[in-house]
Amino acid sequence: MPAIMPWVIGNWKMNPETPTAQQQLTQQLIDHIAEHLASGAALVNLNLAVAPTLLHLLTVQQQLQQAKSAVQVIAQDVSRFAGTGAYTGDVSAQLLANAGIGMTLIGHSERRSLYGEDATVLREKLQAAINAGLKVVFCVGETLTEREAGQAEQVVLQQLDEVFDCIDLQHWQQNLMVAYEPVWAIGTGKTASPQDAESMHAAIRAGLKNYHSSLVDLPILYGGSVKPDNAASLAACANINGALVGGASLDADSFIKIARAFS
Ligand code: G3P
Repeated sequence: MPAIMPWVIGNWKMNPETPTAQQQLTQQLIDHIAEHLASGAALVNLNLAVAPTLLHLLTVQQQLQQAKSAVQVIAQDVSRFAGTGAYTGDVSAQLLANAGIGMTLIGHSERRSLYGEDATVLREKLQAAINAGLKVVFCVGETLTEREAGQAEQVVLQQLDEVFDCIDLQHWQQNLMVAYEPVWAIGTGKTASPQDAESMHAAIRAGLKNYHSSLVDLPILYGGSVKPDNAASLAACANINGALVGGASLDADSFIKIARAFS
């Protein structure tokens, strides 16, 4: 399996609270990366990205571009509807693409649980994102109840299966990556053990390979209480190709320490 360049993505969710705090967080990120580069601890062979709230997306993008930062800005979600039109409160993949945003999360467990996003909605979102040319981080993950019932792998593979045929193989190959985020590990401080995470990532990779052998090289990121003190043990797992970081990404020093573990 050729080396897969890791991704470390900071999902800021509905944070920070003010434009000033957003500007400060972005500047801290820029400064911490510069400090690491100055110390010779380059962040090499790594894709770095942050997913600000929609309100701050373009401001963060502009701030990073002005600093000539390699950190990419991605969206946390996209509308199920394409293009433009009477969709109050929504933002389409096409509008994001037209604004220079090239990637989005889709299917985050919080969208599934809090907004009732089921397979029908996620299929439409995937199609809209692909039709607009976006790359997609498709999020999957089981609940604690499902894990304790021994159904974790079955649930996660089903989450892939219920959307797989909504876009063609070429787009899976070129535009997709998967993020495994056990719901019970998100925001709880209970990180999946490296063994459990690696086991699930291996199952996801085997499932992707079953669809088509070329999908064996898709990046599979882990998310769920990734912190500086557990990042290295996760990064050491053969099938973990990066991290989707929530809380720790709101602290630039922690986020860069996690990134270094994967670089
Ligand atoms: O999308 C990443 C997020 O769900 C993980 O959150 O706070 O457990 O790192 P956290």
